[in-house]
Amino acid sequence: MADSEEVELEARLEEQDSFEPPASFVEQANVADPAIYDEFDAKWPDCWERAATMLDWDDDYETVLDDSTPPFYEWFTGGSLNVSTNCLDRHLDERGDEVAIEWVGEPVDEANRSITYRELHREVNEFAAALREIGVGEDDVVTMYMPMVPELPVAMLACARIGAPHSVVFAGFSAGALATRMNAADSEYLVTCDGYYRRGDPLDHLGKANDGLADVGHETETVVVDRLGPNGDDFGHDLADAHHGYADLVAAHEGAEIAPVSRDAEDMLFLMYTSGTTGEPKGVKHTTGGYLSWVTWTSHAVLDIKPEDTYFCAADLGWITGHSYIVYGPLSLGTTTMMYEGTPDHPDYDRLWQIVEEYGATQLYTAPTAIRAFMKWGEEFPARHDLSSLRLLGTVGEPINPRAWKWYYTHIGDEECPVVDTWWQTETGGMVVTTLPGIGRMKPGSAGPPLPGADAQVVDTVGESVEAGRAGYLTVQKPWPGMLRTLYDNDERFVEEYWAEYSDTDSSDPDDWVYSPEDGAKVDTDGYITVLGRVDDVLNVSGHRLGTMEIESAIVGVDGVAEAAVVGGDHELKGEAVHAYVISEDDQNETEALRRRIVQAVEDEIGPIARPERVVLTGDLPKTRSGKIMRRLLENVSDGEPLGDTSTLRNPEIVEEIQRRAVE
Ligand code: PRX
Repeated sequence: MADSEEVELEARLEEQDSFEPPASFVEQANVADPAIYDEFDAKWPDCWERAATMLDWDDDYETVLDDSTPPFYEWFTGGSLNVSTNCLDRHLDERGDEVAIEWVGEPVDEANRSITYRELHREVNEFAAALREIGVGEDDVVTMYMPMVPELPVAMLACARIGAPHSVVFAGFSAGALATRMNAADSEYLVTCDGYYRRGDPLDHLGKANDGLADVGHETETVVVDRLGPNGDDFGHDLADAHHGYADLVAAHEGAEIAPVSRDAEDMLFLMYTSGTTGEPKGVKHTTGGYLSWVTWTSHAVLDIKPEDTYFCAADLGWITGHSYIVYGPLSLGTTTMMYEGTPDHPDYDRLWQIVEEYGATQLYTAPTAIRAFMKWGEEFPARHDLSSLRLLGTVGEPINPRAWKWYYTHIGDEECPVVDTWWQTETGGMVVTTLPGIGRMKPGSAGPPLPGADAQVVDTVGESVEAGRAGYLTVQKPWPGMLRTLYDNDERFVEEYWAEYSDTDSSDPDDWVYSPEDGAKVDTDGYITVLGRVDDVLNVSGHRLGTMEIESAIVGVDGVAEAAVVGGDHELKGEAVHAYVISEDDQNETEALRRRIVQAVEDEIGPIARPERVVLTGDLPKTRSGKIMRRLLENVSDGEPLGDTSTLRNPEIVEEIQRRAVE
């Protein structure tokens, strides 16, 4: 981190613009009274009843927060509920014939589907019955490996109905990534599909799923959705062979009604694997009562969702944003949530704007990487469409640069829509730092203050609050209902990764426990937090989290590679791009072939999202005298920045060679 004087200067130089929330928005906002901040502070932790009482409980909870064994906090203890009841059944009387999911398929001529709450409820019940028939019991982990097809939320909700936690694996991940996650979660069930379309062409998906299954160390039952119909014939899959067909299963249970299983508030709703600093992905565990309360409340307070809205989040269900803010939060509120299967640039750069116009979308929630791409494509594409149905815009996943923020505010929101820049993580379950759109001034580039009742603070290396303008580390000082409860089967790693840094781990006093998300941040005199990015060895590529260790271990498995270091290089659209610095065994023969093998290995083991943008082959890597690779120097090389002090290196001469090779 830069030294403090530099940081102060930087803060002064960056005098921020700020914008009042538009009056037309404030008038109708779900939450508009600034007193909520003081009220939540005064009533903490009981303030969270405001979220919990938005749900229907089978048994009322007895305690809001049990903090007797930190950091293993429990929320709404004694309560029980079912998530699918909250997302479906309770809306049937009043909103049964309203659309729950507007599904927009990828080929433009696809028959889109408007699925009402009643229809969704029916299919969820039928598939829940089918899951039971193939053996799924309460607490069995069901893995889902599917793109943005309606059967994915159906499967998630069907699992929730019978008390089986799900683990959704992003469809763009490789067979190896699927196998790792199924093995780690002891998951004996998989729901997948034959294939899907990308930019109009059918892609084989079942081939990848089958390759993954071959590496799963236990027996599995697999359900396959036939997404491609005859267009999948070329891939030669016999869907009836060895697998269950989704449509047949559902048809066989037509009209089934499955009584929702009453789950304890602290029972697991789902697992979501995410990258950390070691090669092993972390199985983040979310629960039933706390998680659903958190995403329901934040969808209401931050996304301003109302039942009559047509809310559009352009994320993928394979990531936490899709779980919390396409499925669970919006459906719990009984609104219409959109799912778009395709990419924003096909068949043309105005695809999203055409969808917003056609469906009259009221909110749009997307990532800065997408906004930067829209900017690059040009304002003429949104200008072709009437976007006046939009009331609120949101961003998530990475820091947004003020220029992109202002472009979004102006060209998509027509200066009429507040923009919420929401900071959160897979682990936090839902938003933690953001302005409330009906209350807070917006400052482009800065996420805003912590939500009412959320105690996010920026601290220095010893955990003391930093002064305004100085850079430090983001922490959350008090627990919150949506927080992860542990890492699957690994309480020790949970404590080590998220708490050890700033907590007294021997203490049973919750005040001695501090959550550390591993993000750098600064705070201004109004308490607005600007998140600066990860401070661990985790990259953020297009808003997706990738561990450098995972990529390195794929690369060192390639024949001819002796050692590898992966760092993030600045990238205009993606935020960060994967740059690999690789020591090859036999010096530089066949360099192009080796580079290709390296890129292929990363795609095979993780997926195309982790593909190295640049592979630099070198005779050595810059190392300290104790043999540690100096990644910061490699980052400087990647970004063409001055190297700074290299005197602590064991091999300072190598840096010039690497610089030379990096531009070759
Ligand atoms: O570095 C932060 C960044 O994304 C990380 C979390 O990634 P993931 O668990 O994949 O979840 C992404 C979707 C919630 C954080 O540690 N991040 C997320 N939102 C923001 C952000 N960085 C800056 N500003 C944000 N609004």
